[in-house]
Amino acid sequence: MPTLDKPLSDLKILITEQEIQSKLTVLAQEIEKIYPQDEEIYIICVLKGSVMFCADLVKHFKHNVQMEFIRISSYGHETKSTNNLQAIDLTLPNLQDKNVLIVEDIIDTGLTARFLTDLFKIKHHPKKLAFVSLLNKKCARQIEIEPDLYGFEVDDKFLVGYGLDYKGYYRNLPYIGYFPV
Ligand code: IMP
Ligand code: MG
Repeated sequence: MPTLDKPLSDLKILITEQEIQSKLTVLAQEIEKIYPQDEEIYIICVLKGSVMFCADLVKHFKHNVQMEFIRISSYGHETKSTNNLQAIDLTLPNLQDKNVLIVEDIIDTGLTARFLTDLFKIKHHPKKLAFVSLLNKKCARQIEIEPDLYGFEVDDKFLVGYGLDYKGYYRNLPYIGYFPV
């Protein structure tokens, strides 16, 4: 691994593994109330950032689920949103009249959430659409949009861990942290 200008030794933990795992139980219960008990849910994992959150969240569901994966990039290698959304893979099955849950790691400017919500409503016509994000950087919003549910509200700091990366690194950390400036 190349020498990183943000080494792991500088990282301060913001949300512990235990805090994340406890939150998942609560979130999963709230999400399950949104959908009829006997109907399946299509889980849309927004890669790469949501990989950990989505994988851990679905383990709590009692509903039957189908898992789908789409890939969008907005940060590139920067630590600020580039406002330049790149849809890398939006391949999905027919979701008309299905129960759909979009699973995101973090809502920052809100541009990705807006893009996805519009895309699903206009193109896929689901029966029920809900949006869950583990983290919510409300103070960084550039457009008005809120997830139906979220785990933690966070300050406008660049965060890594539990799916969130810096230059592709640190996604594997089981907690979420930041680099003090
Ligand atoms: P938005 O479109 O600006 O709301 O940004 C959404 C995407 O940017 C998220 O899905 C993340 O993948 C990425 N992102 C936003 N904030 C952070 C951060 O603090 N660390 C790492 N990635 C982030
Ligand atoms: Mg994301």
